Amino acid sequence: MDIPFRLNGEDVTAATSDPTATLLDWLRETRGLTGTKEGCNEGDCGACSVIVTGADGTSRALNACILFLPQLVGKTVRTVEGLAAPDGTLHPVQQAMVDHHGSQCGFCTPGFVTTMAAAHTVGATDHTDQIAGNLCRCTGYAPILRAARAVVTAPVPQHMREAPAPGSRISNSGHHHPRDADDLAQWYLDNPDATLVAGATDVGLWVTKQFRPLGRLAFLAGCDDLRGVTVTDGAIEIGAMTDMETLRHAIAPHHPSFAELLRRYGSVQVRNAATIGGNIANGSPIGDSPPPLIALGATLHLRRGDARRSMPLEEFFIDYGKQDRQPGEFVERVTIPRQPDTLTCHKLSKRFDQDISAVCAAFNMAVENGVITNPRVAFGGMAGIPKRAARTEAALEGQPLTQATLAEAARDLAQDFTPMSDMRASATYRLAAAQGMLLRLVLDAPDLLAVQP
Ligand SMILES: Cc1cc2nc3c(=O)[nH]c(=O)nc-3n(C[C@H](O)[C@H](O)[C@H](O)COP(=O)(O)OP(=O)(O)OC[C@H]3O[C@@H](n4cnc5c(N)ncnc54)[C@H](O)[C@@H]3O)c2cc1C
Ligand code: FES
Ligand code: FES
Repeated sequence: MDIPFRLNGEDVTAATSDPTATLLDWLRETRGLTGTKEGCNEGDCGACSVIVTGADGTSRALNACILFLPQLVGKTVRTVEGLAAPDGTLHPVQQAMVDHHGSQCGFCTPGFVTTMAAAHTVGATDHTDQIAGNLCRCTGYAPILRAARAVVTAPVPQHMREAPAPGSRISNSGHHHPRDADDLAQWYLDNPDATLVAGATDVGLWVTKQFRPLGRLAFLAGCDDLRGVTVTDGAIEIGAMTDMETLRHAIAPHHPSFAELLRRYGSVQVRNAATIGGNIANGSPIGDSPPPLIALGATLHLRRGDARRSMPLEEFFIDYGKQDRQPGEFVERVTIPRQPDTLTCHKLSKRFDQDISAVCAAFNMAVENGVITNPRVAFGGMAGIPKRAARTEAALEGQPLTQATLAEAARDLAQDFTPMSDMRASATYRLAAAQGMLLRLVLDAPDLLAVQP
């Protein structure tokens, strides 16, 4: 297949017979651009970071190791080799890394400078979050952060302002590249065994780590009508192809605790790729978005051909590895009813950044006239699916928000869940941590406590 995009200012066509060829392999093996490194090959280290600019002109860092070439159609890619100006002048980030002694080796440094240059291009100043997905084991982060801070006011070099990319169609493919949701719906109905590729932060690893043959593929990258967050009087609507970083910013004014949870979702490179549709459809018991969405009473909207159906999100997750999804049916969007914000989320993982949850909790409850009303409590990591804590909710309903109420309800958590032990946490630890998160509500919500009788 022939995939047109722009690379370091030059129009290129990547010709490949493998639809799961990664950008990283193509850069290194076909183009000889070996500045982009392979560390983990699973999105965890940032050594392969590149800058990708979409049709909307927004530049973002992505991990090239789990980015399939067909996802790049119509995009602009800039690697570490393309950061310096055409006359050889270093990019301000590169110069700052030199000036502030930000590197010792050539392995992590290219990934750092591309990630930092992407952040610089869009004016991001949350430097620690921006480089949380880039691992360095020798220099230490202080000089790198000093370099990032030093260039905040430096103008974005002209060559970093990407022009729109050429071509938006892949030829000779044999796979599907739907133009929009209608196109996807029709094709998937006729090809229900196909694998959908959204952000590829799961599917990418099936290829790079499990060497799984994937058969027919549909690349959803062109379905712009499935992207974006719309806020109406009644609901917050999130298209299935909305990436986690976009969702993080869009949800922050409405449910800041959800946004804070998403700040700890993978890294900026992972959040720029991973979609809400993928995070729900994969049915993972430890996905970070289902617990807050369930606690907020979200509705999932599925589509099969022209037929659409909706359900409370928690009903989609039937059992471990089993979801209520028919062949040829896909996630179109998820909606959250508008409501006053009473959501509190917790993510417990071994590392603060770039780690999967051992336990993820979401509590959504109002306190009216001193008593808890309509509590919704959802957990990830406590069962084979993301799940509501029905007994715990019943124990909270109509009770005053006090330490005693929460301690009583925490005992019911042991009835709601029989967590498993794995490398992330033992069953005992998971249950104790979940109970602790519930008890913390009193400490986290002094304003709610203040309205007690
Ligand atoms: C380094 C790293 C860190 C991570 N950290 C986290 C984390 O902190 N928290 C977390 O929750 N997850 C994490 N993940 C997991 C991953 O990011 C999520 O599961 C992600 O949301 C998957 O979305 P995607 O768009 O990348 O899906 P893809 O990989 O493209 O697809 C995943 C699955 O969903 C299906 N699918 C995708 N879109 C649809 C749709 N619209 N309708 C039906 N089916 C669809 C695909 O066919 C596939 O089966 C991490 C992954 C990596 C590699
Ligand atoms: S090689 Fe580690 S994130 Fe890509
Ligand atoms: S300087 Fe390369 S790992 Fe840190």
